[in-house]
Amino acid sequence: MSLIFGWGRRACVGRHVANASLWIAMTSFLATFSVRKVLDEHGKEIPVVPKFSIGLASS
Ligand code: HEM
Repeated sequence: MSLIFGWGRRACVGRHVANASLWIAMTSFLATFSVRKVLDEHGKEIPVVPKFSIGLASS
C-alpha cells in the first residue's frame, strides 16, 4: 500500500477513503453486471476481435 499512497508522516490521509471507494465501485459493478461474451441468435458466444484505436478512450 505504501508504494502508491506514500509512507511515514506525509502518507496520504485519504488512503482509506480511496481504498473503500474502489472496493465499493468494483463490488457494485460485479454484483450488478454479468461480464461475458455476447451471444448470437443460436446462443453461441461471439468471439471478441481485439482492435486498437488512437486516443485515450474508446467506445
Ligand atoms: C487512489 C487514490 C489516491 C492515491 C493514489 C493517493 C496518493 C497520494 C500520495 C502518493 C500522496 C503523497 C504522500 C507523500 O508525500 O509521501 C498523497 C497525499 C495526500 N492525499 Fe492522497 N491519494 C489518493 C486519494 C486521496 C483522497 C481520496 C484524499 C482525500 C479524501 C487524499 C488526500 C491526500 C492529502 C490531504 C495528502 C497530503 C498529506 C500530507 O502531505 O500530509 N488522497 N496521496
